[in-house]
Amino acid sequence: MKSQLHKLYIASVYLPVIFLMVGCGYDPQSPGIEYMPDMYRSRAVEAYSEYYIGEDRKFSALKPVEGTIPRGYSLYGYENTADGYEKAGIELRNPVQCSPAILAEGELLYGKFCVHCHGTAGKGDGNVVKSKNWPGPPPAYDGPQLINIPAGKIFHSITYGKGMMGAHASQLTEEDRWKLVHYVQKLQGKKTACENVKTHDADEDGVPDALDQCPHTPGLKDYFGCPQVSTEVAEVMEMAIKGVLFNTGSAEIKEESLSILEKVKDVLLKNPNYILNVNGHTDNVGDAKSNLSLSQARAESVQAYLGSHGVEARRIHPHGYGDAKPIASNETDLGKQKNRRVEFRIIY
Ligand code: HEC
Repeated sequence: MKSQLHKLYIASVYLPVIFLMVGCGYDPQSPGIEYMPDMYRSRAVEAYSEYYIGEDRKFSALKPVEGTIPRGYSLYGYENTADGYEKAGIELRNPVQCSPAILAEGELLYGKFCVHCHGTAGKGDGNVVKSKNWPGPPPAYDGPQLINIPAGKIFHSITYGKGMMGAHASQLTEEDRWKLVHYVQKLQGKKTACENVKTHDADEDGVPDALDQCPHTPGLKDYFGCPQVSTEVAEVMEMAIKGVLFNTGSAEIKEESLSILEKVKDVLLKNPNYILNVNGHTDNVGDAKSNLSLSQARAESVQAYLGSHGVEARRIHPHGYGDAKPIASNETDLGKQKNRRVEFRIIY
């Protein structure tokens, strides 16, 4: 009994002391043996911390290779001086073609990067500058100081910053900065090329022509400016938009798309009062004239196919728009892919 108590005593007093002593090494820098290391150290590779690959000591955050620029960025040839500013104002033109989709992207960027200083309408009344510690609000975009500012100067100031406004070149690609220029000009109330399309609305259904897939028939915003149809019919049309494909550069419908066109045909035969708008669109690769004729030819081959399968040709309205109605930016591959499309919309 006594010896058992003794053992318990040894276990409870000496063992923790032994563990402690083994845990602490001689090296004051070393954390010693950690019994539950995951609780002390993150297993993730921490940026800016040193680690080893074999014998090589590395930093996880490496500097970019000298003389290189990040993907999507380009060199900006105007210096951050008064001269550079004036020169940018005279020489630079916005390379991003304006469209309602681009304006929408500009608005999104503005909401993330600019609104807290410049305010929703660009009047210089964002939340940050309302604070009493802020030295002075930015001028209103449509006020006397800025109303005549050329696009190049707007781009220059977004790139390098101005006064209390920081530089945005490291946060926004060149393309995004140009989109913002369009948006700032919109806030200025300027009638940019974009604005003209945006406000034009032939059927007066509140969906501007540039976004209206049935521009001459009043419709609903949720149906892309087209009249409401049943869910089943809408699904067939969505399937046709995604699935009716053509051989590259030609108006020949791909073999595998014919089964979807069969479904479109069924809808039309079942609903004799329906008329089908077929709108062909391309991206901006190649010249505008051949894009226009290709998009028209594609819409017409849909008409010809349905015509040869029992739908009266007059019930199909083929229309080619070429690259004039992009729904996404043509600056990226994904955007281009979205822009190459044939829209199928029922009107009645
Ligand atoms: C921290 C607040 C702040 C943010 C964020 C900010 N700005 Fe500014 N901005 C200012 C101030 C202040 C001025 C006035 C600068 C001056 O003239 O000294 C200004 C000026 C401008 C001008 C006029 C430039 C010129 O050449 O006179 C434009 C255009 C502009 N900003 C656009 C933007 C856009 C677009 C964004 C978003 C990417 C943005 N700003 C983000 C505070 C800000």
